Amino acid sequence: MTNQTWQTVDDYLIGQLIERDFTEVLERSLRAGLPEHHVSSLQGMLLHILVRAVNAQRVLELGTLAGYSSLWLATALPKNGTLITIEADPNHAVIAAENFAAAGMTERIHLIQDDARVALERLIAEHTAPFDVIFIDADKPNNPVYLALALRLTKPGTLIIADNVVRGGQVADAATDDDKVQGVRQFCADLGKNPRLVSTALQTVGSKGYDGFTLSLVTDAVQSD
Ligand code: DHB
Ligand code: MG
Repeated sequence: MTNQTWQTVDDYLIGQLIERDFTEVLERSLRAGLPEHHVSSLQGMLLHILVRAVNAQRVLELGTLAGYSSLWLATALPKNGTLITIEADPNHAVIAAENFAAAGMTERIHLIQDDARVALERLIAEHTAPFDVIFIDADKPNNPVYLALALRLTKPGTLIIADNVVRGGQVADAATDDDKVQGVRQFCADLGKNPRLVSTALQTVGSKGYDGFTLSLVTDAVQSD
């Protein structure tokens, strides 16, 4: 099996399953020269379905980029629902804000342009209500930091999803000197040893190559400090 097969099958499945995509978001993102690190549309729909399946009202996203996954998440929320999405890069945040406005979703999406660590610490200090779903898709070396902080914004039943945990298979290489892979490896180790979480991982192929998600469920009421 090759990347070409994955792409062909992705195209087929998208044709069968995905009615409304946010292609205009990707076009604006490409025009602005942002990296093509967005999820695929099938993966976007997975995020959308998970948000709907848990009846989420409040969703947190780390790593907005151009807002493509944000729109899949936010359109799964009820009208009074909220997506808080955090983007460190001011140029990316400008494009994301344009995309949210063009999609008519500015009421449901609160975009924070800041370092994710700083923004999370602020949300914790403000005693913001816990989130139902948290999607971690920011800079990978900081994944362990983001997990520790994000856990303080959860409740029993919160679903934590992380993107790019396979990275072409590199995640299994203990000797890697890639700081993104090291970040993901530490993140997986932290998930596995956290007694508050039950976790799994889903390896994926498709238009975004070979990668994967972790899915974790918060299972108890004890807040970690
Ligand atoms: C990278 C980040 C992503 O979120 C992604 O989906 C793919 C690649 C990266 O930083 O390499
Ligand atoms: Mg990603």
